[in-house]
Amino acid sequence: MDTFLQYNPTKLFFGKGQVEQISNEIPKKTRVLVVYGGGSIKQNGVYNDVLKELKKIDAQVFELPGVEPNPRLSTVHKGVEICKQEGIGFVLAVGGGSVIDCTKAIAAGSVYDGDVWELITQAAPIENALPIGTVLTLAATGSEMNPVSVITNWETNDKLGWGSPHVHPTFSILDPEYTFSVPENQTVYGIVDSMSHALEHYFHRTANTPMIDGFIESLLRTAIQTGPKLLANPQSYEYRETMMYISTTAFNGTLSNGTDGGDWATHRIEHAISAIYDIPHGGGLAILFPHWLEHVLEEDPSRVKQLAINVLGVDPSGKDDKEVALEGARCLRRFWNSLGAPNTLADYDIDDQNLESIAEKTFIKPGVGTYKELNRENVVDILKRSL
Ligand code: NZQ
Ligand code: ZN
Repeated sequence: MDTFLQYNPTKLFFGKGQVEQISNEIPKKTRVLVVYGGGSIKQNGVYNDVLKELKKIDAQVFELPGVEPNPRLSTVHKGVEICKQEGIGFVLAVGGGSVIDCTKAIAAGSVYDGDVWELITQAAPIENALPIGTVLTLAATGSEMNPVSVITNWETNDKLGWGSPHVHPTFSILDPEYTFSVPENQTVYGIVDSMSHALEHYFHRTANTPMIDGFIESLLRTAIQTGPKLLANPQSYEYRETMMYISTTAFNGTLSNGTDGGDWATHRIEHAISAIYDIPHGGGLAILFPHWLEHVLEEDPSRVKQLAINVLGVDPSGKDDKEVALEGARCLRRFWNSLGAPNTLADYDIDDQNLESIAEKTFIKPGVGTYKELNRENVVDILKRSL
């Protein structure tokens, strides 16, 4: 194992009714900006629950509605302006990963004199941020318990991941009931995204990591067992809570303990596609990840083989390593397709027109892939397989 530091400052309140913790966590009379999306929280009652808690502490409430899926820099700018003008002291995200990511950017941008895009592109260091909290309504990204955010700039067609310890949520409320209303397609994307995070962690090159490898395998098997049951019973507290815990754990630092952190090439390629086509993140991953596995196993099938046997139930008898690994990649694709996830880029009307531009955007930051470092031709190869 590599040396590692385990430190996650987010207080996680998990379970039914935990929204009540808001009034314990935010100081009395704080000026709070509540950030949310397109209105689902008003339909499912979460908005009212949150406002009730903020009333208990006499908070002065300001609102930023309308955060888009794949949140946009233009919306971050609106939030920064409110925070600066109104002297906001706390930013509360109520929604899925997009709302939380937007909130993180607002929190950093509000205490910075220049344009927040300079922080996101790392042209300027992030030295501070307003404190943030989250009320999660969609199990997918893990943003509720990590210091990462992904923002799209539609002026430059760039979708950029960035992070800072300053934007780690101070607390997050995870009530599985708040995810009962998540529509079927978003539930599927959430399962795929969470599993992809676990898979990307799995593809590390660090020796002697039996505990973390077994942990990831167990998480993946649990997602495979739970996903179909959840889709058949979307109001099941039991299945929703399992998926919620999976998605948070899949990207809160736990799975990289002692390893080199894994290989996030597929995420880089997906973000590049979304920057041009604005497709749902989990949908893009469902298309790309099995093809990345197929690309990787051609050179070295060992890890994909291990995944195939330990997670995907492939019987290795009578097959060589490559055959086992290939069967694993196909099993994963079949599983995601069986949930209703997309299969090819054509499902999003994406043809071979922009493959070179997508590849170029994938390298917006140098170094794509660690388990297998990809060059541009490799990225184009994975995209062609995905058409
Ligand atoms: O806008 P509202 O009305 O809230 O509706 C949303 C949105 O339309 C809806 N939704 C959320 N909770 C709901 C609900 N509908 C009904 N009932 C509920 N309880 O779902 C739609 C999608 O929401 P969004 O927040 O976009 O989804 P997700 O959580 O998957 O976030 C995706 C974004 O996160 C980024 C992705 O790239 C993408 O931009 N990621 C962020 C990461 C991070 N910060 O750590 C890591 C990930 O790998 C990912 O890249
Ligand atoms: Zn993701």
